[in-house]
Amino acid sequence: MITIIDKNIREEYPDKYFELRKEAESALDLLKSREGKGKDFLGWLDLPKQDPEHLRLLKTVAQEIYDSGDLMVCIGIGGSYLGAKAFIHALYGDNHNIRFIGHHLSPLELSDLLEELQERDFYINVISKSGTTTEPGIAFRVLRDLAEKKYGDKVSKRIITTTDGEKGALRKLAEEKGYRSFVIPADVGGRFSVLTPVGLLPILAAGADLDQINRGALKGFQTAFLVNNDNPVLNYVTSRNLCYRDDKAIEILASMEPRLHYLSEWWKQLYGESEGKEGKGIFPASVDFTTDLHSMGQWIQDGVRNIFETFLLVDNYNKDVEIPHDETDLDNLNYLVGKKLSYVNQKAYEGTKLAHQEGGVPTMTIHLEQLDEEHLAELCVLFEVGVAVSGYILDVNPFDQPGVEAYKSKMFELLGKADVK
Ligand code: PA5
Repeated sequence: MITIIDKNIREEYPDKYFELRKEAESALDLLKSREGKGKDFLGWLDLPKQDPEHLRLLKTVAQEIYDSGDLMVCIGIGGSYLGAKAFIHALYGDNHNIRFIGHHLSPLELSDLLEELQERDFYINVISKSGTTTEPGIAFRVLRDLAEKKYGDKVSKRIITTTDGEKGALRKLAEEKGYRSFVIPADVGGRFSVLTPVGLLPILAAGADLDQINRGALKGFQTAFLVNNDNPVLNYVTSRNLCYRDDKAIEILASMEPRLHYLSEWWKQLYGESEGKEGKGIFPASVDFTTDLHSMGQWIQDGVRNIFETFLLVDNYNKDVEIPHDETDLDNLNYLVGKKLSYVNQKAYEGTKLAHQEGGVPTMTIHLEQLDEEHLAELCVLFEVGVAVSGYILDVNPFDQPGVEAYKSKMFELLGKADVK
């Protein structure tokens, strides 16, 4: 189960809370009616109902990769890699067979990966809806060359494309070369695509369980669409927009579990690209606690008061460590003997929340009962519905991203690409 405790913000804005809550309910109705802005990009609402044959094929390919013990190199940027990375890092840390590339232009990272791939067998999953994005395009060109040299006439088995069902360079290439290929539904935008083959193929190839993911996603939609006091989406959206209207334009997602680092990165894309337009939008920032309490903690406690904080907390762990006794007690830690690390982390959260509240930072907390496939899928769905509802409250189209084109045209001009407008 996922719950949101936003008592502190409700108490901070007692008069305005119920007014804004009504606005959030109307925005949720608008999303349900499928008549709001960006209504052609609502395919993500139907994702738990994917074609079983299609899912069976996805599972088979993922199982083949997992069983092979080979590496799987996922090439993609933005929505075409963040969801998979979020799930995989949360579930396995660094202990998995998936590599991510094509989400930057680092000569060092690509060179190091090329070296690693000299020694290992690998699959390539190139993921791009448009098929023409520069960063993954360059990485794919380089890695395809390596794969062709390494695997010769068997290379087509090693390359899997995930792209648009009908158009684009990757679709054409897959057809010409006989690569296995999965479809990104036309009505699902990149940042809403984690539960399509974009996210699912790498997540399953890393060893995750599809039934649990589907169960979590279904639960997420059921919970998000119920209008009652416990609806976590309505609570979250109401509270964050109350803060925003009180000139707190920065939301800090503060995770108490570093395994959720990339979940925060995924969340930043989802909220940043969906809301930041027309001169509006909450700026999504993130920190990993307690690590960042020793760096950004100072700013949060004492800096400009234009922030609010959303804690992300895992309530139960299936692995834990007990603090041992030490005869000398030179480190003064014997008062914690026998306590679990999760207990200390919980107290760190409680203490930090109180300190930040006293420092003038409104806070709320998202509780994940467990860190597993089901809860991750549920959380993703709640955040997706949340950003759609929040975007409608702001009166923007939450499903487009016109601003991301600006850097591209400047870069293309500098690189001398023909036909730049
Ligand atoms: O949200 C978006 O749509 C973008 O950030 C894309 O995810 C990103 O640019 C990758 O695009 P593509 O999948 O077409 O390569």
